[in-house]
Order: sequence, then C-alpha cells, then structure tokens
Amino acid sequence: ECMLWNHEIVERKPENALVSFEDRGYQFGDGVYEVIRIYDGKFHVLDWHLDRLFYSMEQLAIRPPFTRTEIKELLKRLVAQNNFTADGKLYLQVTRGMQPRDHVYDEELDAIFYATVNKFDQPLEKWENGVRVTLQEDIRWLRCDIKSLNLLGNVLARTKAQRNGFYEPLFYRDGMVRECGASNFYMIKDGTIHTHPANNYILGGITRKKVIKLASELDIPVVEEMFSVEELQEADECFLTATPMEVVPVTHIDENQVGSHTVGPVTRQLQQYYRKRVY
Ligand code: PDD
Repeated sequence: ECMLWNHEIVERKPENALVSFEDRGYQFGDGVYEVIRIYDGKFHVLDWHLDRLFYSMEQLAIRPPFTRTEIKELLKRLVAQNNFTADGKLYLQVTRGMQPRDHVYDEELDAIFYATVNKFDQPLEKWENGVRVTLQEDIRWLRCDIKSLNLLGNVLARTKAQRNGFYEPLFYRDGMVRECGASNFYMIKDGTIHTHPANNYILGGITRKKVIKLASELDIPVVEEMFSVEELQEADECFLTATPMEVVPVTHIDENQVGSHTVGPVTRQLQQYYRKRVY
C-alpha cells in the first residue's frame, strides 16, 4: 500500500511521511483538505473537488504546491499503484508549510501535502433506515465555505452529538438552519427541496451541487434559501449529503420524528437516482 507524500509516492508508513513540529498545519491547523469519492477505482467529479481545493488555497493565500494537471496526474498514479479498483475515498490535505511559530505567515513558504486512498464500505444501514440529527448552536467561524483543516467547532459538535446517540449535529445560527457537522442539510416541504445557499455560512458541498443537478433532472424544485428552526418543524422530509455518505435520510431531529414517513418518497427517489448516476 502506498501514499502520496509531496511529489512522491512512498510506502504508506508513518515514518515515510514525517511532519515537522514547525509545520503550520500542526501548529495552527493552517491548511485545507478534500475528501474525494472513488467508485470502481475511478474518481467521482474530481474536477469539482479540485476547483474547491484551489478556491480554499486561494482564499487563505496558500501557495499551491502543484498545478492542476500535476495533482491530477499524481492522484491517478496513487490509485493505480495501489491497484485500487474498489469503492473508497481519497483524503488530500495541503498545509501552508514550515515556519518558526508566528501567527503571521511568511508568503514564500513551500506548502506540504499528502494523500491516501482508503476503502469505504457502502453505509447500507444508514441509506436504508436513515439517521437522527440533533440541533446545536453553530459556534464555528464565519468562513465555512473554506474547506479548512481547522475543524474544532465540527469536532466538538459531532463528538457531542454521537456520544448522545445522534449521527450529526444540525447547526443553527441566528435561528436559521445551516448544515451538519460534516454534511449539508435539506428539508422537503410540499415537494420542494429547501437548502441553505452556498455562501460563507456553509461548505459548498460537492454532493450538494450534484444533488441539485439531479433534482432538476427529476423535475423536483430546489430553493436555495435559508429556513428557520421553526420552519424546519413543518418539514415533510429531511436528508443530508456528503461525499462518502451520498444521500442519507434524516428521520428525527432530536426526539421529534420528521413528517409522517420513516423515510420520505422524495428522499428515496433522489437517493436511488443518485446511486444510479454515480455507477
Ligand atoms: N466533509 N459540510 C461540512 C462541514 C463538511 O465537512 C462536508 C464534508 C460537507 C459535504 O461536502 P461534500 O459533499 O463536498 O463532501 C458539508 C468531509 C467528507 C469530511 O470532513 O470528512
């Protein structure tokens, strides 16, 4: 098994990819990442992920350590050299580089990156039966559109949610529903899908983008506008999306069942269509 360590493919062993104590990713969480789905050994919407990766680096003024062509080439080589033909996910992260600890970053640093490929089994049980989410106040920063390594807000919220028996926290801020700890969130009301607009309050999910496209193919209307925690109580159906999980029905918000179905028909239709389209 091998991994990508900067521009080289090396055997996947901790001692082959050592990070300095002066790495800014280690010291400040100063870096960005992507999680990319692999189906049958092939990347799913790789270009969309690379667009977002370059956007994240640009927003943080991290000097890209590769061109788009180079990283594509490296990632494909990584999958090939692992003989990876199954379903899985790729993790890629880029940190700003090494520097004696100082909040103020040096503009000339060489960014450091690595990538691994990991098997990922289909979450069949969650697809079938759905998950529960729990409302939590969003205490994250105001640039959630950047896929930053700095995930403490998400880490604390998701841990608390899972310790209490929920799959995800559902973040709200100023009374408005935002997204989950590691996924985007949707409610369906009278046949229309509602989801938060892709702005600085949420991560613009790749699966979200795909779902919006597929919904339009199915003639399901989508409204990208905020809705409140109060409006959420009237939802007929809810679901969430993320790269590894695809479309997952949400059956409960805290102790309250969503709508009158265990898993709603629109959610099921979209979920099945998504499956068909990625294969
Ligand atoms: N998380 N919102 C947040 C806060 C996320 O962390 C993620 C993904 C998403 C969904 O985005 P996408 O559809 O592009 O995967 C939304 C990844 C999977 C993670 O942190 O592991």
